[in-house]
Amino acid sequence: MSARIVVIGGDGIGPEVVGAAVKVLEATGVEVDLGFYEAGDEVAERGGQPLPDATLEAARAADAVLFGAAGRSAADVILRLRKELNCYANIRPSRAFKGVKCLHPECDLVVVRENTECLYIGLEARLTPDVATATRLITRKASTRIARRGFEMAAARERKRLTAVHKANVMRITDGLFLEACREVARDFPQVEYEEALVDSVAMRMVLDPGQFDVLLTTNLFGDILSDLAAGLIGGLGLCPSANLGEGPGLFEPVHGSAPDIAGKGIANPTAAILCVAMMLEHMGWTRQGLAVHKAVEACLAQGMVTPDLGGKLTTMEMAREVASVTRQLLASGS
Ligand code: NAI
Ligand code: MG
Repeated sequence: MSARIVVIGGDGIGPEVVGAAVKVLEATGVEVDLGFYEAGDEVAERGGQPLPDATLEAARAADAVLFGAAGRSAADVILRLRKELNCYANIRPSRAFKGVKCLHPECDLVVVRENTECLYIGLEARLTPDVATATRLITRKASTRIARRGFEMAAARERKRLTAVHKANVMRITDGLFLEACREVARDFPQVEYEEALVDSVAMRMVLDPGQFDVLLTTNLFGDILSDLAAGLIGGLGLCPSANLGEGPGLFEPVHGSAPDIAGKGIANPTAAILCVAMMLEHMGWTRQGLAVHKAVEACLAQGMVTPDLGGKLTTMEMAREVASVTRQLLASGS
């Protein structure tokens, strides 16, 4: 049976970059059954729910979900989708590409971010007109499972280094518990070099010398901020894919949003969405195909076959066709 993949374009450039990514997916020749579903602002404007039941049901039943971007309704669409699919691990790689101008060509790190708790659980209160609070939830269960993902990832990478990022000198109890879980899991991975570091100093070290980091394992809020910082280090949002993983279907989405300023012009950079396809293929066991897509993207970026945001002249679809064609060549030549 072929794998069922639910494709949700969403708003703005979402459908454009996802359409481009699907072209590349088709070029790999893997047997997939694609289902196209809607979500986002336009659906809401027509009086529907931003994340329609039919879309959610299909996503639940799928083997993987490829998502573009949502606009104003992003929180109702993507945050809800991550939660409903119980995708507790947010994996955001940032590796510099040859041919793309950036601050740190040596950067090759991945942020492994806890996706379900911390300050993002929505427990805020206005105690008086002048006093507001927010609750930070950290549990051993969620910390342990994200730590396990982080260590597994580090163990599979070349440098096998993991930095647990925290602020336990101030948030002694919550980050204390997070670190306890990390240390416990670290015992099962003696091959991984383990380090703990304060989030503020990590931010500074990332800007000065990101090459020293391999896997950054952290809680939700810190991970959100540091992964955008990492995107900046390698040249911007158009290049960064992400995977949301849990027990069920993986949810793969570019880090960028709906980019209303360039939507409809056919010039959005499809790299992030195409790299989502590479991550999805590797996650589903099509390692050779995923790697081929990755290499094809690298080749096109290195040769300047890129969209205007990176100084090129290609449209979204033209770049996708180039990547698709290099992917086919790589797979045909057996690499
Ligand atoms: P954005 O990521 O959509 O755009 C930021 C800037 O980067 C813009 O100048 C845009 O043109 C550029 N950009 C982004 N992706 C690009 C690509 N693939 N190629 C070339 N240029 C690209 O973030 P912004 O402007 O803060 O938000 C716009 C809308 O997107 C908002 O309604 C926001 O709620 C939504 N959003 C949705 C997300 C999601 O669905 N996961 C994530 C972030 C924002
Ligand atoms: Mg963010």
